[in-house]
Amino acid sequence: MLGKLIVFEGGEGAGKTTQLISVQTWLNQSGWGDRVAHYTQADFPPIVITREPGGTLLGKGIRKLLLDVTVTGNERLDEQAELLLFAADRAQHVASFLVPHLQAGTLVLCDRYTDSTLAYQGYGRGLDLGLIDQLNQIATQGLESDLTLWLDIEADYGLARTRQREQDPEIQSDRMEANEIAFHQKLRQGFATLAQQHPQRIVRVDAQQPEAQVAQHIQEVMEQHLQEWYP
Ligand code: TMP
Repeated sequence: MLGKLIVFEGGEGAGKTTQLISVQTWLNQSGWGDRVAHYTQADFPPIVITREPGGTLLGKGIRKLLLDVTVTGNERLDEQAELLLFAADRAQHVASFLVPHLQAGTLVLCDRYTDSTLAYQGYGRGLDLGLIDQLNQIATQGLESDLTLWLDIEADYGLARTRQREQDPEIQSDRMEANEIAFHQKLRQGFATLAQQHPQRIVRVDAQQPEAQVAQHIQEVMEQHLQEWYP
């Protein structure tokens, strides 16, 4: 595919959303946006930000089903049902958003992708990793990221950040954040294992540093790749 898929991964409170916006601004200001535009079809944007779950209209509905605890009330969300909903969101996102944009040459910045399912449902919940790999394969049609930035943060530190944010009455704690600390520690270990297994694709970024330093590290990693992709 002409375009490139860059994924931001990490546990709760790692600062993905802030860093995604910061990267987009940097790409546009540094001139990389113009360079990418040369490689992109005129009717598509050179750079886009998207997310999983929730990158499509169907996905927005699935995201609410997955994360809003009021949807199921006292009914416990079954772990297999949860896994399949994440897979359904991904299948729709890949088919109707990622593939068309990548075919048109867009540089896609995606908040979470396949490694989140391995980390959260696999390492966190303890579901079978082989099965998750198969589901990811079906949902993605084999589409892998070109680069995955893993924003690593200690579980308790990240959770404390999200709780601070949620003092805002508009923002409520979601189903995932409500899991006990051990779950968040396991999924962090999961990301560490995945990064070891895929050193070419996954780059660890220390997300516990001040925001500006995290942004700087991400820019350095991106710069190396961009020079290779857009000579
Ligand atoms: P976020 O996009 O705001 O981080 O929220 C998405 C939540 O869903 C987050 O807690 C991680 C979780 N998640 C999974 O458990 N599995 C997945 O496959 C994905 C994409 C997200």
